[in-house]
Amino acid sequence: VSAERVVAVLGRGVVPPGTPILRGDDLGVLRGDGIFETAHVRGGTAWLLEQHLDRMERSAALLELALPHRDSLAELVGQALAAWPAEVEGSIRLVCTRGAEIGPGPVTVFATVAPVPAAVVAARTAGIAVRTATIGLPAELRPGTPWLLGGAKTVSYAVNLATQRWAQDNGADDALWVSADGYALEGPTSTLVWLADATLWTVPAPRTGILAGITARYLLDHADALGLRAGEAMVTPAQLRRTEGVWFTASVRGVAALTSLDGDPLPVAAELSARIRELLGFS
Ligand SMILES: Cc1ncc(COP(=O)(O)O)c(C=O)c1O
Repeated sequence: VSAERVVAVLGRGVVPPGTPILRGDDLGVLRGDGIFETAHVRGGTAWLLEQHLDRMERSAALLELALPHRDSLAELVGQALAAWPAEVEGSIRLVCTRGAEIGPGPVTVFATVAPVPAAVVAARTAGIAVRTATIGLPAELRPGTPWLLGGAKTVSYAVNLATQRWAQDNGADDALWVSADGYALEGPTSTLVWLADATLWTVPAPRTGILAGITARYLLDHADALGLRAGEAMVTPAQLRRTEGVWFTASVRGVAALTSLDGDPLPVAAELSARIRELLGFS
């Protein structure tokens, strides 16, 4: 089943998808000055919506952005999802920019719902080849440099997308950011998870300023359902090569196993991958 994109604007509700909804001087467009969340849409609902609204409030605080009350945001999400066919898997984006440059005016807030790209669905079972790419910063710099907005989910994703294009131009599917001091951090749109010693591990977000991934948090909080423990640790690409499995998790991607890192095959735990997909509701 295919579905057309849904667009809903705070205070206006659902509008036809081609409707102009931004001013030419919106700071989200001019400066990338805004925040967003993306959640998975299943059965007509946004999965883990409360966690996404929590993180959006944290992002707004980091940018000193006057995010509307979460009841209005939840209502906007409800309006958008009511216009989406419940049987179609989708992704919902909730966006809040600083609004018009001539401000101080109201923030711009809207939501879109779109289908999940076929390549994203395919990667859940096929896995992905990943290349490491430096982010140029020491792993533990960002907690002490709040202007770098570590931990905030800002709309400034040009660098994230350029990193992924670079990886794809170099024969991979996606990239893994590595710090200047050699630690694996996260993907440009995903959280890193690995299996070692009957434990699912991820990189500590508060210590590194990476985005605190909601999907990885859910997975690690439910690791016992897989007969595993959960932990957080710093890890290098060399150490990742010696683990029992490596994954990227993200709200719409769900989970995808890394099949190789910089061309070196990684061990693929196919049966565990299937159980993780089922636990996360992506099977
Ligand atoms: C930089 C970054 N890290 C990690 C993630 C994964 O987080 P989540 O599971 O909350 O979607 C995302 C986006 O989805 C991201 O953009």
